Amino acid sequence: MKLQPNLLLLTAAVLVFGDVDAGNVLVWPTEGSHWITLKPLLETLIDRGHNVTVLVPSATLFMDLRDSAHYSILHFNMSISKKDILDLFEEHLKFAMHEMHHMNVVQKHITFYKLFSKNQDFFLTYCDGVLKSPSVMAKLRQQKFNVFLVDPVYPCGELLAEVLAVPFVMTQRFSYAHTVERWCGQTPAPPSYVPGVGIELIDKMGFFERVVSLLFSLTQDIVAVSQWKTYDTYFTDYLGRPASYCELMGKADIWLIRTYWDFEYPRPLLPNFIYVGGLHCSPAKPLPQDLEEFVQSSGDDGIVVFSLGSFIRNLTKERSNVIASAFGQIPQKVFWKYLGEKPDNLAPNTRIYDWIPQNDLLGHPKTRAFVTHGGTNGVYEAIYHGVPMVGIPIFADQTDNMVHMKAKGAAVFLNFNSLQAQDLVDALKTVINDPSYKESVMRLSRIHHDRPVKPLDEAVFWIEYVMRNKGAGHLRVASHSLNWYQYHSLDVLVFLISILALVFYIIIRTCSFLIRRCCRTPKHKSKRE
Ligand SMILES: *[C@@H]1O[C@H](CO)[C@@H](O)[C@H](O)[C@H]1NC(C)=O
Ligand SMILES: *[C@@H]1O[C@H](CO)[C@@H](O)[C@H](O)[C@H]1NC(C)=O
Ligand SMILES: *[C@@H]1O[C@H](CO)[C@@H](O)[C@H](O)[C@H]1NC(C)=O
Repeated sequence: MKLQPNLLLLTAAVLVFGDVDAGNVLVWPTEGSHWITLKPLLETLIDRGHNVTVLVPSATLFMDLRDSAHYSILHFNMSISKKDILDLFEEHLKFAMHEMHHMNVVQKHITFYKLFSKNQDFFLTYCDGVLKSPSVMAKLRQQKFNVFLVDPVYPCGELLAEVLAVPFVMTQRFSYAHTVERWCGQTPAPPSYVPGVGIELIDKMGFFERVVSLLFSLTQDIVAVSQWKTYDTYFTDYLGRPASYCELMGKADIWLIRTYWDFEYPRPLLPNFIYVGGLHCSPAKPLPQDLEEFVQSSGDDGIVVFSLGSFIRNLTKERSNVIASAFGQIPQKVFWKYLGEKPDNLAPNTRIYDWIPQNDLLGHPKTRAFVTHGGTNGVYEAIYHGVPMVGIPIFADQTDNMVHMKAKGAAVFLNFNSLQAQDLVDALKTVINDPSYKESVMRLSRIHHDRPVKPLDEAVFWIEYVMRNKGAGHLRVASHSLNWYQYHSLDVLVFLISILALVFYIIIRTCSFLIRRCCRTPKHKSKRE
């Protein structure tokens, strides 16, 4: 069966894609993991002959394209510096990793809300940098773009798409309680079996969990709608006519969602929502020699890979010592990606690196476990290569991701702030020595790989589809033009209930009239008699 995989793939690719003319692709700027997972997609588009123009801000942590001759780069100026962005991220991390745990629910939400407003101000500096710069806008207008890649977390891509009249594709992992997908994408997500991201539930819920799920959706909607007002005002001012963020986002031709059924639970789908989770994963490449030697030195015990992702660079001395002490108690060799100060008690089996080839390490046959903050990208690399996980989630969707992995039997997860060395040792021993974890993650891995087209090719297909067809309006549901009571047919129900009431009224009046007549007649008769 596996004689000529390359030939098969090639045939499949030709069958699926057919011929495509090269097109012009525009990309809205993003940061961090959003940018990291977009890159393999952009590089594939470049390989397929498209001209990929990326809007690159003057201040950025991750969008370093200086050496990438293949991209067309359109620089724009931001009113803030790289230091400001770092400070903002530090503030988020400080909240998520330290402060949050000493707050009550109300304080937590108020602080979160304040941080979110700061984020919005930060995101709007991208908008100003592009949309309010006559020179950048002139360059954008000069070129005819065929498709525009936009991320809903970084607003104004949809506004620029409106201004330039270019079809656009959203790429997204999640919004809290699916508010963006539900309200702006019109995708159905009944809270009775599609709990929102952020509430740490899965599809099967008891009565009280469903209560929590519904309340979470409702409160998140209120929060989201009030936060979107900031963008609505910006969009309205810019266009000089009433416009809203959600309405413009709703014009997206395709939504590329960064998960799949290995990770998600089944839910209703619209034809323009395409699930391409794990598109950044690829088979492991050979490791650099020094890393390979360290891997081989682990013998039959194998290795453990530990990373807290792209944002968390350092930990407190106390936390890093606890983690180092746990690693010292396991027989495996440990690869730890860490930029902070070296812990005092680092054991000989543990090595710290500024950077690790995470995908290649996870794909190594000697890898036994992945200790992760639970970001979607890392979780997908673990699913792709079938590596059981120990999660130490910290913020955003990370806890929900680990809840999914735990429910599917592929992970154990711990609380970052309260975990002690023994907890981490026990968790590692569990996922490494109990074969059910490996079996579960291998099952997810099989689901991940068993699909007609690889997620990266599928994402490319849909982007080219939008270019070929000049949009994908024929896949957009008509509910975008309905308001909430029309959507739920409440106006129709009111109409039908009114008719029913009227009919009842007429029947009752008629009956009472007849009864009165019937009853009266004998009276008249008796009078006359
Ligand atoms: C690609 O885009 C750049 C600028 O964004 C432009 O100068 C160039 O002509 C484009 N190339 C093609 C082949 O369209
Ligand atoms: C950015 O600002 C610098 C310095 O003020 C200026 O020279 C440059 O032309 C600006 N770039 C754009 C794209 O506006
Ligand atoms: C990490 O490093 C930054 C800058 O060096 C510092 O401001 C921050 O407090 C450190 N965080 C922790 C948790 O030690």
